[in-house]
Parts: sequence; structure tokens; C-alpha cells
Amino acid sequence: MSNFYVTTSIPYVNGSPHIGHALEFIMADTLARAARQRGETVLFSTGTDEHGTKVAEKAASLGKTPQVFADEVSAEFMELAKLLNISNDRFIRTTDKAHEQRAQVIWRALAGDIYKAKYVGWYDVKQEEFVPVGQADPERMKPEHPQAYQKLEEENYFFRLSKYNEAIQDAIEKEEFKIVPKTRRNEILALIKDGLEDISVSRPKDKLSWGIPVPGDPTQVMYVWFEALMNYITVLGYPEHADFKNFWPADVQIVGKDISRFHGAIWPGMLLGLGLPLPKQLYVHGFINIKGEKMSKSLGNGIEPKEIVDKYGVDAFRYYFLRHIPSYEDGDFDWETFEAAYNNELANELGNAVQRTVVMIQKYQNGLIGNLPEPSHDVTQYNEAIAACRFDRALDEAWEQVRSLNQYIDETKPWEVAKLGDEDHLREVLSYQASYLMGIAELLEPFMPDTAAKIKSIFTEGIIRPLDGTLFPRQDLTNDDNLA
Ligand code: MSP
Repeated sequence: MSNFYVTTSIPYVNGSPHIGHALEFIMADTLARAARQRGETVLFSTGTDEHGTKVAEKAASLGKTPQVFADEVSAEFMELAKLLNISNDRFIRTTDKAHEQRAQVIWRALAGDIYKAKYVGWYDVKQEEFVPVGQADPERMKPEHPQAYQKLEEENYFFRLSKYNEAIQDAIEKEEFKIVPKTRRNEILALIKDGLEDISVSRPKDKLSWGIPVPGDPTQVMYVWFEALMNYITVLGYPEHADFKNFWPADVQIVGKDISRFHGAIWPGMLLGLGLPLPKQLYVHGFINIKGEKMSKSLGNGIEPKEIVDKYGVDAFRYYFLRHIPSYEDGDFDWETFEAAYNNELANELGNAVQRTVVMIQKYQNGLIGNLPEPSHDVTQYNEAIAACRFDRALDEAWEQVRSLNQYIDETKPWEVAKLGDEDHLREVLSYQASYLMGIAELLEPFMPDTAAKIKSIFTEGIIRPLDGTLFPRQDLTNDDNLA
């Protein structure tokens, strides 16, 4: 039996979770559940990224210590995972003692590639990124800019990333380290071909104390990205724990497009420095916009996942974001489109296929289902879509089956078969429908676990076990003043 290790990026705790974070949770969860369904042993890790300037500044502005503030916001991310029915095995916080200690072990192991030098350039607090002079946006150099860079001139430690340029390029080109989609892979390759430069990996402690101390130098703390990336192996107990031996390299690492460089170039450099294999696949998703606009605090258009889940339920949430946000591009959320998908696809198409089958078996056969034939539909494309993190396509495949079942019912007209009194044929038709639905439930399981379990519970006992209520009660947005 094989092992499967999947990770999300770990969000900063400078603000409450939004639907962009939720998207990553449900994508990783879908991969984890699909792997468990295949019989693999899964380790699914997520967590929070808690050090750095951004968190320290936000905590200070609220009059809180960074630790107290990080505790509060990290708890919100854990709540979000619960709300979304996320089956993560681990939740790592970069303020966990074990992470801090293991990060220091890693630093020491990389010491041969780390040297002290002077950094003169800019720092982008929003992205927690050193911005070399040649790459800086002149607008943001102006102190009055709302997202002005900090000007840095300091001694810090550098990591010799340049040394691994060719090895990283080679691994990506040979797909030993596969990056999907191709567009993102090409962006990273272009960057590497330009030549990766050594990067700063620490900050002077007198300028930023909220970080993990650099071993052997009390005047410096680690640069937040450098230690945050390490979470993917510290959470496995690198270097000595059995989980590390069993689960590294990761099967899939999921990140957003804004942080692909860190995961496609810097993280591989660190792994090569440690003599470790690179992840098998890096999946880079796009951004969710709200009605075509970027989500942002200043626009006030952020949507809390809970708002949607409270109204439509967790599986409708999972369904919408996995199917209607294109897996390889940016996507959009607005309430109207969400509700149309809910009513047309979940209530009408899936809900009706289940409801009609239940009602007919109850009416014509007193609820007795009879022997279910094995579902026999080709799932190759569905499986390929999941392997390539094309959640949208996998759900399209499942929906092909929902639609074709409804078409089968419309064409076969079991109610006419009943009128003709052909009981054998009727039993055959209805058990075929039930079996079809069991097959669909299998496909939906990783995406909509509760819905899949409900569908299965109706048909598995040989006699219909009706649900309390319907799977997806129709919703009408216009009835809700808050959302209109
Ligand atoms: N802390 C770093 C990640 C460290 S991983 C070692 C970070 N945090 S973040 O909170 O800014 O972003 C977390 C994830 O959410 C990233 O993958 C980011 O791309 C994703 N998203 C942030 N806004 C998003 C949308 N509007 N839409 C989809 N995903 C978005 O970066």
C-alpha cells in the first residue's frame, strides 16, 4: 500500500480567513479523501505561518503581543477547517516549539550554503519579500505610498540559492518535480533561466524580534519565508521521525499563484541543500475574484466562508468552489452565480435524480431495492483529472453521469413500465438507477463527503432509508434581504 502526502500553504495570521484560504483547504482535502478512497495511507497537513513583520505589525497595531494575536487568528483557521469538513491529519503552527527546534536543526544542516553579507535594498512587508533594487516598483519606494517598501541596509545571512539553479531546472524539465498547470511551470522555468540569485534568509533581531533565533547568532532571527517553507518537513518530524521517512517527498503541494516562486524555486533549493528529494508535484491555483474585482481589505469585498456555508451548507460550498473556479486559472464568486449553480445543478439535477429514484422505489416496490448491479462507468478521465488537480474537470465528469442518469429516467419512463405491470423489468430499471447513484456517490465522495454518505445511506441496506428532508432544498436569494 502506498503513502500519500499532501500539503496546503500555511496562511499568515495577520487577518481572518477568507474564501481564498478556504479554496486551498478544500482542494487539499479532496486530494486527501480521494487517496484514502484508493486505499492509500494519507498524511494531510495544513497550518498557520505566524512570524514576520506583517504579523508583528498587525499585533502591535491592536495592542496585543504577537503570540496572543497569533493564537487568536490561528484558532480561526482551525475553526474554518472544521466548518469545511477538512480531514487534515496535522495542523502545524510555526510558533510550535517542535517547529522552532527543527527549523534550527535545518539551518545548521544548511550551514555550508549560508554566509553573512550586507543586504541593501527594499523589503515588501505585504508579501514578506526582499525586493532587490533592480526589481522594485518606483511608486512603492515613496514613503507616502500605502504599501510603501521598507528601505533596508543591514547585515544578514544569505542562502546560496544560485548553486542549485541547474539542478532545479533539470528536475522541473524532466518532471521529476512536476509543476501544474504548464503556464505556471513555464513562468518558473523562465525565472530560473534568468538565473536565481542568492537570497537573504535572516533579519537583525533589533529590527524584528518576532522570529526564530538563528542558531549560534543571537543577533539574528530567521527570515519568515525561510522557516515557513520548512514546515512541510518539520511537521513530519524531520530528520529522525518515521513519518518523515514514510511521507517525504510530498505527493502534491498546493499553493496560490502569488507564492509559486517560493515553492518552485526557493524551496527546491533548500531541499537540494539538505540532500532531499523534491516534491513530486506542485499545483499552483489561481485567485478568486469577487464580481470580477480583486478581493481586498480596502475594497471591503472579502467574503467570509461562514456566510456561504450557513446559508447553503458545506457541500454546496465545496462543490461551487471546486467546480466553478477553474482549477488552472482565476475564477469569480458572486452570490447570483453561486445560487444558480446551487439550484440548477445541486437541487435540480443531483437532488432530483436521487429523489425520483427514492420515490419510485417506495411507490412501486414498497422501498425494496433488490440486488444492485455493480456501477460500470468508465472513470479513467475522472481519475486523470484528480491526478492533475483538475477539480473542475473531475466534477464535470461526475455531472455527466448525473445528467445521463436523469436522461435515462426520462427515456425509460419507469412509471410507464409500472403501468404495463412488467415487474421484472421495473425492478431492473430501478435497481439500475440505484446502482448508478451509488457510483455517482463514489465519485462525489472526495468532493462532497456528507452528500455522498447520505446518498449511500439511502440505498445500501437493500431497502430505501429515506433522508430527513431533501439533499439540497431550493434556495431563493431574493428572499434574503441581507444578500440581495
Ligand atoms: N504565509 C504564506 C504562505 C507560506 S507557505 C510556506 C502566505 N500566506 S497568505 O495567507 O498570504 O496566503 C495563503 C494562500 O492563500 C496562498 O496560497 C495564496 O495564494 C492564497 N490566496 C490568498 N488570496 C487568494 C485569493 N483571493 N484566491 C485564492 N487564493 C488566494 O502566502
